[in-house]
Amino acid sequence: MLDGKKTLFSGMQATGNLTLGNYLGALNNWLTLNEEYECFYCVVDLHSITIRQDPAELRKRARALLTLYIAAGLDPVKNCIYYQSHVSGHAELSWILNCFTYMGELNRMTQFKDKAAKHSDNINAGLFTYPVLMAADILLFQSDVVPVGADQKQHLEIARDIAERFNGIYGNVFTIPEPYIGKVGAKIMSLQEPSKKMSKSDENVNASIYLMDDPDTVIRKFKRAVTDSDNQIIYTDDKPGIKNLIDIYSLTTNKTVEEVVKEFDGKGYGDFKMAVGETVASILKPIQDRVADLNKDKAYVDGIIKDNAEKANYYATKTLRKVQKKVGFPEKIR
Ligand code: TYM
Repeated sequence: MLDGKKTLFSGMQATGNLTLGNYLGALNNWLTLNEEYECFYCVVDLHSITIRQDPAELRKRARALLTLYIAAGLDPVKNCIYYQSHVSGHAELSWILNCFTYMGELNRMTQFKDKAAKHSDNINAGLFTYPVLMAADILLFQSDVVPVGADQKQHLEIARDIAERFNGIYGNVFTIPEPYIGKVGAKIMSLQEPSKKMSKSDENVNASIYLMDDPDTVIRKFKRAVTDSDNQIIYTDDKPGIKNLIDIYSLTTNKTVEEVVKEFDGKGYGDFKMAVGETVASILKPIQDRVADLNKDKAYVDGIIKDNAEKANYYATKTLRKVQKKVGFPEKIR
């Protein structure tokens, strides 16, 4: 809660190209919730360097992600869209919260285990304390709600535990955040291995729909999506490929799963895959066009970046001062 208004915080990493999973699992919900809350949408570049990055590429991707937030429909005047690295409060609060987080808690994080296995040559301390920085992101803005995909649930739980622990010692400092995870779409699966989530970092480009894929590519990827040898459109865990496509179609057409199953009753996989591909392509095309327009207007996007960093810093400083005082840091002489 900030200035009497309920607050929403969420963020994405600028590593790799955004996928349909990021869109349907998170961004789509950001768009529906955004009228009700004071919203902060962050490009989390501090998190990105837990994995080695090419600096020029990271800068480019961070800008592309911020532009995409706007192009997807988030109003950058009403919503605070900004880079995490422009607000030093994230790192400062993260340090303090590190001192209120236990090694045992961090050791349980499944995403750390996955990433450590994937990047065994670079298991750095930042990767281990990644969830604490995430907790700092959320708590810095006294966030009430955090819309994310299912893979972030464990990180939200630890953020709540840290906040409750801190409040238990120092009184009511932080708002306890609630995760917001959609019923459908919280886990969009790979088109090539439907038992795995769709991921920005998948080496197989056919496994993911990237938000910047052109319509032909989108349709081709859906046509090639791995399903099963049956030809019936049924929503069941035994058919993970088709189940995933039904979820995607349901979310992009605003139809219920039952309506989708009924619509394709008696039709084959070919027709269904084509329909999903065309629908997704038709949603992505206007976003891509807006990205192209925004890329032509550097001054406008720069202005947004500047104004929103100021706004985010203002609120971040407010929380940070309160926390610094609570833990016993001497007040600055002004
Ligand atoms: P990131 O960048 O991996 O993903 C961004 C958002 O997309 C969701 N998501 C998915 N949802 C459904 N199906 C999928 N296949 C799929 N893949 C990704 C993620 O759940 C996420 O909501 N640590 C976070 C970023 C972060 C953050 C935060 C989020 C940093 N600080 C504070 C919320 C609040 C991450 O790496 O997300």
